[in-house]
Amino acid sequence: MKNKTILITGSTDGIGKLAATKLAKNGHNIILHGRNAEKLTRVKEEIKSLTKNDNIVGYVADFSILEEVRHMASKIKEDHSTIDVLVNNAGVFKVANPISANGLDIRMVVNYLAPYILTDELIPILERSDNPRIINLSSAAQETVLGRSLEKNVSLSDNQAYAQSKLAILLWSFDFARKHKFITTIALNPGSLLNTNMVKEAYGKFWSPADKGADIIIDIAINPKYADKSGQYFDNDKGDFGQAHPDAYQSDKIEALISKTEELLGN
Ligand SMILES: NC(=O)c1ccc[n+]([C@@H]2O[C@H](COP(=O)([O-])OP(=O)(O)OC[C@H]3O[C@@H](n4cnc5c(N)ncnc54)[C@H](OP(=O)(O)O)[C@@H]3O)[C@@H](O)[C@H]2O)c1
Repeated sequence: MKNKTILITGSTDGIGKLAATKLAKNGHNIILHGRNAEKLTRVKEEIKSLTKNDNIVGYVADFSILEEVRHMASKIKEDHSTIDVLVNNAGVFKVANPISANGLDIRMVVNYLAPYILTDELIPILERSDNPRIINLSSAAQETVLGRSLEKNVSLSDNQAYAQSKLAILLWSFDFARKHKFITTIALNPGSLLNTNMVKEAYGKFWSPADKGADIIIDIAINPKYADKSGQYFDNDKGDFGQAHPDAYQSDKIEALISKTEELLGN
């Protein structure tokens, strides 16, 4: 199999880091991303020495600041002519201060708006791949996205904000797949309560090893059997494609979200 160039956001920890390490071991070119420069350098060197693969680069951007997302996308486009796989994995659940610098809830920004912007910016270099893929990390936690959740200084519980951001990325994933037929775009619940920092901080326990999430990311990223599954939702609690939240099948709900998002981003 030809080596692929694979960008995984939020690959300094959790399932993103694990997937990046395993893919690097199989010889793929890996583009890491993290919010902390020191941690990113440490992880990059760790993966290089563990896998004997030197084709690992990294980019820093705090996804709670959308200007940093745009800046990272420009740098990636300067440095890479093609990306084969984009894994929109960076995510956050519990935070001390849930209001981000622009006044929006940080879960809506990091988990939904950041990947929305990054993906939009990277379309030209994804479309240069023979078989481009996007994997959008959703969750079993999916709740109707309320209009007010994309407004400033709104108080949402951690569960509400997380579940709404995870349905938002899923609705957008379905819409994106319809609009960009050449790119295989799949929304993924990697499995519930996997053993990562996010889960340990939120629940203090886990159900499954982090490998369960990393392995399904890898399979969807490279296995030819997913090429015709664009616009679908893979539920790794079931180990198969499945039904998402009912809102994902209502075009008015999707259109309302996309138009609110475009307005918010000034597009
Ligand atoms: N674990 C599960 O059971 C589970 C279940 C369903 C869905 N998911 C989804 O899977 C994805 C990965 O989760 P995980 O469990 O592996 O979590 P994790 O271990 O906490 O890793 C999250 C990654 O995102 C990065 N990140 C967090 N906030 C960021 C920000 N503001 N800007 C840039 N990067 C940021 C983290 O950076 P640092 O290294 O600096 O912390 C880390 O690399 C998430 O989208 C999550 O919602 C996970």
